[in-house]
Amino acid sequence: MAQASLGGVPTSVHAKAAGAWGEFEVTHDVSDLTDAKFLTGIGTKTKVLQRISTVAGEKGSSDTVRDVRGWAQKFFTEDGNQDFVFNDLPVFFIRDPIKFPSMNRSHKRHPRTNVPDNDMFWDFHVHNPEGIHALMHLFGQRGIPASLRNINAFSVHTYTLNKEDGSYRYVKWHWKPNDGIKTLDSATALRLAGEEPDYHIKDLFNAIEKGDYPSWTLNVQVIEPKDLADAPIDIFDNTFTWPHNKYPLRPIGKLTLNKNPSNYFQDIEQAAFSPSNMVPGIGPSADLVLQARMFSYPDAARYRVGPNYQQLPPNKPLAPVYSPYQRDGPSRIDGNYGGDPDYVRSEFRPMQFRKYAMQGHYEWKGHMQSYATEVTDKDFVQARELWEIIKKEGAEGEFLDNIVPTLVGIKEDLLTGAVALFSRVDKGLSELIEKTVKERKEKMKA
Ligand code: HEM
Repeated sequence: MAQASLGGVPTSVHAKAAGAWGEFEVTHDVSDLTDAKFLTGIGTKTKVLQRISTVAGEKGSSDTVRDVRGWAQKFFTEDGNQDFVFNDLPVFFIRDPIKFPSMNRSHKRHPRTNVPDNDMFWDFHVHNPEGIHALMHLFGQRGIPASLRNINAFSVHTYTLNKEDGSYRYVKWHWKPNDGIKTLDSATALRLAGEEPDYHIKDLFNAIEKGDYPSWTLNVQVIEPKDLADAPIDIFDNTFTWPHNKYPLRPIGKLTLNKNPSNYFQDIEQAAFSPSNMVPGIGPSADLVLQARMFSYPDAARYRVGPNYQQLPPNKPLAPVYSPYQRDGPSRIDGNYGGDPDYVRSEFRPMQFRKYAMQGHYEWKGHMQSYATEVTDKDFVQARELWEIIKKEGAEGEFLDNIVPTLVGIKEDLLTGAVALFSRVDKGLSELIEKTVKERKEKMKA
């Protein structure tokens, strides 16, 4: 998305997107979990802005590529803006945010050839095996959606829901499409990428234009703080999912996308989302990647859109927001807080503060560490479970069709490394990969 304003910076992310306006309605009572106003009271409705993107490709790239889909939302609540900046795959490739720039660049164009490069892609992943679970999802059936109307979206990170009484719970957010998941096979996706590069954008726009509004159900998985010790995984590590049999989905509400932007650039391109935009009743967790993201997005927005991006129509809260330390800068047009002091807790401009909940969350008994990249056998458990599901669905062939073309032309030592990586998931899987790559190579020679 940075391309429009930065003239094609090759390292930007989520450049290509569809977007729409919509409405969120609370359908289930979750007042035991949170007093966030937009989640309180069955029937409560909130205006939403939605942007759904691919990650690696530039603004003019094809929609039907194998990639993660980004899911960014802004809820215009009476307490200010709540953003959800999620993905359509439930886990992430890294658990240490310091690796993000490297990961991002390895998925993009080679600095010399200027084309995306499978050697770079596999070089990164072979040497950063904690991404194996995300890779299994990416090369599975859900790596290319049939329509943006038929994707899941996941917070990936653990967040908290909390109340003014000080109680809090850990949650993972899940959006489920009411029309079900629909995916594309590689061959159809490849054809569409050439024939209809804007296939997904057109599909969403046209559906909304003709009144066929897509909708999703918002759910949470919940863990009580007292039960944290029993969790089978580190809930602050975004490479793991929470087992659904232990932590079932609890529905909250329904999103309906019902209005196309009247001007794409104004409403969608200039929209800026951040995981740090949170309203009372919702909080972050100690997930390191989430912590880094909370600073990274506003930085990107100030650079990409401009320091006063929060005044623009897609970003401006409907509710009054008072943050007088954020003022000045180019293109300030909203009165700039007049003569108010540019700090809060001033006797010249008295104001009330809401009690901050969740003190218990911060009573740490852990340890600090500067690098979070160790990989153990545990990293392969959920990847293996996913492979079992793929096998049960008879989709092994599809998985091989998806992954093998990316491995056929890479350097021998990287291929050996990739096969070794998948052998830690399942010996049978790595043998299948090795055999199929060999067959394809022989076929190419013939
Ligand atoms: C260390 C990890 C990460 C960093 C540093 C990072 C950073 C960024 C940056 C700088 C942008 C561009 C923002 C803009 O131009 O306004 C972006 C976009 C985005 N990221 Fe991340 N990201 C990370 C991980 C993730 C994860 C784990 C998710 C999902 C759970 C995610 C979802 C998104 C989405 C949906 C967008 C597009 C937002 C939009 O539509 O405006 N990112 N990310």
